[in-house]
Amino acid sequence: MPLFARKLGIDLGTINTVVAENRQILLEEPTIVAIVIAELKMVAWGQTAKDMYGRVPEDQIEVVRPLRHGVIAEYEITENLLADIVKRLCGPMLLFRPTLMLTVPHGVTSVERRAVHEAGLGSGSRDVFLIQQPMAAAIGIDLPISTPSGSMLLSLGGGTSQAAVMAMNTVISAGTTRAAGLQMDESIISYVRKKYGIIIGQPTAELLKIRIGAALPQKDVLSMEVQGQDQVSGLPKPITLSTDDLVDALQQPLQQIVENVKKVLEKTPPELISDIIDRGVAICGGTSLLRGMEKYLTKSLGIPAYRVDNPYTCTAEGAAKAIGMIDELRRSLMQG
Ligand SMILES: Nc1ncnc2c1ncn2[C@@H]1O[C@H](COP(=O)(O)OP(=O)(O)OP(=O)(O)O)[C@@H](O)[C@H]1O
Ligand SMILES: [Mg+2]
Repeated sequence: MPLFARKLGIDLGTINTVVAENRQILLEEPTIVAIVIAELKMVAWGQTAKDMYGRVPEDQIEVVRPLRHGVIAEYEITENLLADIVKRLCGPMLLFRPTLMLTVPHGVTSVERRAVHEAGLGSGSRDVFLIQQPMAAAIGIDLPISTPSGSMLLSLGGGTSQAAVMAMNTVISAGTTRAAGLQMDESIISYVRKKYGIIIGQPTAELLKIRIGAALPQKDVLSMEVQGQDQVSGLPKPITLSTDDLVDALQQPLQQIVENVKKVLEKTPPELISDIIDRGVAICGGTSLLRGMEKYLTKSLGIPAYRVDNPYTCTAEGAAKAIGMIDELRRSLMQG
């Protein structure tokens, strides 16, 4: 059991939860919980709960994602999840109650913010601070956000895409759209249904996106066979899709991501824009890993976009680091 109070940065994402402390990643798990319906009791979370999906009797065990578009949709489940994370990392006795820095998407309402704050306190923590995800990510990759010059970061997750320009330790202009990983999966599902008359599920759509997907046409066109269901007969039917199919299917959410960034740039003072043009736009989050994403954004925005080295973990790392910067960040950290 640790003999000191822990200081945990927790990136509570729609798809994945990452916990960091002192630049070390302590935990990285899907944000999924399995609940026994009769007792309303959590039996598993993280990868174990994800593995149960579709394999356990649905009338007895429910497998849920407690966050939607980055905000809490299931309050009690989220509180239980946080309590279990704290217990796992700090020991069951909680002799020294930890300090948490929890991330929230840019643009959440005060009610949504308060829910995260209360869920954090309910987990047995001593202090709970909230930080906007783009700011946490910027700190996690050491962007010079404490200086007067502008830095831009684009966080492309599963439920949200957030663009923010930061300087002097504050967010100068920012915007959030729901066009992100899950919406890309939906676009793939509807493309395959409309073009080929075949129904596929979200896990299959996600697999296609990750294995053969791209934001722009690629020289090496990959293909993959998946199992679907014929829309008319209802019978199983295999289908082979190519990278070109995926590029087509993904254009709509990609355009929305670009629109969101453009709107943020329009709201940004020109002096800061020239800093951003010099320095480029940093991109992070799981969706930043889509093939061709950097090139697509660079082309669409006319500003170089580059993927950071730690796209999955920078937000949690930055949140943990921010615990040591409370005074400097005071104006930007959010109260519950
Ligand atoms: N190689 C890849 N290509 C395209 N998408 C990917 C790839 N790897 C992961 N993803 C997508 O990244 C998303 C998860 O990213 P991430 O863990 O950053 O989201 P999150 O932080 O949980 O969500 P949010 O920040 O929106 O609340 C999923 O939609 C997943 O399909
Ligand atoms: Mg995220």
